[in-house]
Amino acid sequence: MGKTEEIFVSEREKLFDQLACKLETAYNLNRKVVSFQANKEEPIYRWFKYKEGFSSKLVKYFLTEFSSKPGKILDPFAGVGTTLFAGQELGWQSYGIELLPVGTFVMQTRQALNEIDIEKLIEVIKNIWTAISEITDYKKQINHISITKDAFSKETEEYLNKYLSYCSTIKDKYIETILKFAAFTVLEEISYTRKDGQYLRWDFRSKRNLSGKPFDKGKILTFQEALKSKLNQIIQDLSPIQATSLFEQFENINIAKQPVRIIEGSCLEELPKFEDNFFDFIITSPPYCNRYDYTRTYALELVYLGYDYDQVRELRQTMLSCTVENKEKVEYLSQFYTSIGQSEVFEKIIDVYNSSNAMKEVNEILDELNKIGKLNNKNIARMVKNYFLELCFVIYEIARVTKSGGYCVMVNDNVRYGGEEIPVDLILSEFAENFGFNINKIFVLPKGKGNSSQQMGSYGRTEIRKCVYLWQKK
Ligand SMILES: C[S@@+](CC[C@H](N)C(=O)[O-])C[C@H]1O[C@@H](n2cnc3c(N)ncnc32)[C@H](O)[C@@H]1O
Repeated sequence: MGKTEEIFVSEREKLFDQLACKLETAYNLNRKVVSFQANKEEPIYRWFKYKEGFSSKLVKYFLTEFSSKPGKILDPFAGVGTTLFAGQELGWQSYGIELLPVGTFVMQTRQALNEIDIEKLIEVIKNIWTAISEITDYKKQINHISITKDAFSKETEEYLNKYLSYCSTIKDKYIETILKFAAFTVLEEISYTRKDGQYLRWDFRSKRNLSGKPFDKGKILTFQEALKSKLNQIIQDLSPIQATSLFEQFENINIAKQPVRIIEGSCLEELPKFEDNFFDFIITSPPYCNRYDYTRTYALELVYLGYDYDQVRELRQTMLSCTVENKEKVEYLSQFYTSIGQSEVFEKIIDVYNSSNAMKEVNEILDELNKIGKLNNKNIARMVKNYFLELCFVIYEIARVTKSGGYCVMVNDNVRYGGEEIPVDLILSEFAENFGFNINKIFVLPKGKGNSSQQMGSYGRTEIRKCVYLWQKK
């Protein structure tokens, strides 16, 4: 008889074994249903594609499947408000917190649509080009930051500034919002840039000094071409006949619409303001732990909305840590919880974070990989550590504000760095369990995705899980 070899089981594997019975491939929740693509036919979503969003189908599926009657719903990472407006259509009172002004502007526009006088809007649009051409004296409205400088041709830049000046003269605030929104949605089309993963990609025709293989984004529309076509689309979708058939598709006329409350700010600060057991349902998707920088992707939209360099930088730091630039917020969170008289809560959350052996293992391994230069950026370890730490605070708060028996649905992807898989689904579920949620299911989407093409090259095409978690408050 030989010696029995001790088999090493990692903490992540142990956690996997513990939660394996909750994992279930959800064939009805394919990526198309979960992702924003399923919204393509819906107005507003088709006017402005927020690729980071999920679909209203997903929200309606969970609300109808897991709730017998409408109540209060929250999305602490509201984006463009998919949860909020889908909930509203089903009679729910919706609350959303969103930090990025891009999302809050889209949500405000959506609310303005309820108040809009379409005939009046059509009238304004008919005269728009004459009105703009008559503007000679206008203020420069767009102040570029380094990453957006020279994004537009001289003519387009001039037109945009004139257009914004013109919008600010419109007396009807709802019409002003819709018109401002129309140009907001075409910024990428009329620019020399293309949203491309973490950065804006620049066309060879821009004035920038570009290195590498020249990029040709194809036809760049003029401001007039793009705006005309967008305004036509908006009017078409809003016209009474269209509107009836559109809303009939999913709206039960008998359902009274409840208000949607939009809170602009960070959920790390806003969630603690809600009282305990306030919500029946939470449906949310935080930023993923994948280095994606919303403030770079949406830099053009941010400067268009009047944000300057300092404000964009501050936004980037306030966002949930998911880029290598994010600095630690733990000191700030400690002070914040102390300032609201909740220092024991702060300690309790930190204890839960520290008690996760899988989390500890991930942090140790990333630190080790960092030391030996196996991570392609030295701040990845910090980002991952803080991503989970901040989400630990969010999960504590959402557990606190959810009523007993209420649900939380969270959409998120697992990630991999330096070849190490980080089981975001399992670690967040472990936190959730510690804060009073039962883990009902971790639905795994039929097809996951690799982390980045670079990672795929080095570590093969093993798929990492993309999941929808279903937690229920005990
Ligand atoms: C994956 S997206 C959510 C999209 C949303 N489900 C939708 O359908 O539009 C994550 C969102 O979280 C927002 N966010 C990031 N950090 C935040 C914070 N600290 N507080 C509130 N929102 C934040 C981002 O701006 C982004 O819109």
